[in-house]
Amino acid sequence: MAFSWQSTKIVQLLVLLSIFINSANANFNNDVDITFGDGRAKILNNGELLTLTLDHSSGSGFQTKNQYLFGKIDMQLKLVAGNSAGTVTAYYLSSTGPTWDEIDFEFLGNLSGDPYTLHTNVFSQGKGGREQQFHLWFDPTADFHTYSILWNPQRIIFSVDGTPIREFKNAESVGVAFPKNQPMKMYSSLWDAEDWATRGGLIKTDWSQAPFSASYRNFNANACIVSSSGASSCSSNSANSSNDSWLNEALDATSEEKMRWVQKNYMVYNYCTDSKRFPQGYPPECAIN
Ligand SMILES: *[C@@H]1O[C@H](CO)[C@@H](O)[C@H](O)[C@H]1NC(C)=O
Ligand SMILES: *[C@@H]1O[C@H](CO)[C@@H](O)[C@H](O)[C@H]1NC(C)=O
Ligand SMILES: *[C@@H]1O[C@H](CO)[C@@H](O)[C@H](O)[C@H]1NC(C)=O
Repeated sequence: MAFSWQSTKIVQLLVLLSIFINSANANFNNDVDITFGDGRAKILNNGELLTLTLDHSSGSGFQTKNQYLFGKIDMQLKLVAGNSAGTVTAYYLSSTGPTWDEIDFEFLGNLSGDPYTLHTNVFSQGKGGREQQFHLWFDPTADFHTYSILWNPQRIIFSVDGTPIREFKNAESVGVAFPKNQPMKMYSSLWDAEDWATRGGLIKTDWSQAPFSASYRNFNANACIVSSSGASSCSSNSANSSNDSWLNEALDATSEEKMRWVQKNYMVYNYCTDSKRFPQGYPPECAIN
C-alpha cells in the first residue's frame, strides 16, 4: 500500500517535472520564423522539432523572432548524415547593418566517415577573420548534441555538450571592439558551399544524395531580450535572478582544463597561430585569449 502510494507520488512528480522541463524549452512555433527554403524548412511535433533540407535548387533557414543583447543560447542539432561534403549547417547570432556583430558556429560537411569540421568565428563591428576550427570527439550525425553560445559583457564561450571549446575574451583593453551594443538574433541555415567547405572546395556536393537534412530541438535562450523600442528585459526586475549566473559567468579551473583538452586534441585551425597569415604579428586579442 505504502509502496504504491509512493510510486503514484513519484509518477506525479515526474509528470510535473516534465511539464516544467518542456516549458523551459522554447517552442519553434512560437519562437522562430522560417526565412527561406519554400517548404524545405519544417516545424514538426507541435513545435518540438525543426528540420532543414537542402537540394540542388535551394537550402533553407530560420531565425528567432526575438533579438538578444547577451545571453546563453543552447540548441541541439543532429547534422546531415552520410556524404555531407559541400554542405554547411550554420547556427549563429548576428546583428544587422554594415558594422554588424556576429558569433558563429558553422558545421562543414564531409565524405562519409570523414570528420565534420566545426568552424567558429567572432565578428565585432563588421570585422571577423577570427576563425578557429575543430573536429569533434563524437559523430555529430548519429544523435542530437548541444551547441551553446554564452555571450556576456566579459566574454564569449562556445561549448559542445557543456564542454567549452573556445573562449573569446573582451579585449577592449587592447583596442579590439567587443560585441556589446547591438542586439542579435539567432539564425540557422543549411546551404551549399561546395566551392570552399570540404577540404577547401576540393570535394564537391554529391547531389545524388539530396535532399540533405539537419534537425533541431530544445532551443533555449536564457537571454536579455531587446524589444523593438530598444528596451532590454534585463533592465527590468524580472531578470535579476539571471544576473548572478550567466551574465557574470566565467570558466572555472575544471572548465579551463576541459577546453585545453579539446584545443590540444581537436583543434584543426587557429588564426592566432597562423604565422603565414599574420607575418607582421597576430591580432591583439590573441595575446589575451
Ligand atoms: C574532412 O576530412 C578530411 C580528411 O580527414 C579532413 O582533413 C577535413 O578537415 C575534414 N573536414 C572538412 C570540412 O574538410
Ligand atoms: C532587481 O534589481 C533592482 C535594482 O538593483 C531592485 O530594485 C529590485 O528590487 C530587484 N528585483 C528583484 C525581483 O529582485
Ligand atoms: C549584477 O550583480 C552585480 C553584483 O551582485 C552587480 O555588480 C552588477 O552590476 C549586476 N549586473 C547587472 C547587469 O545588473
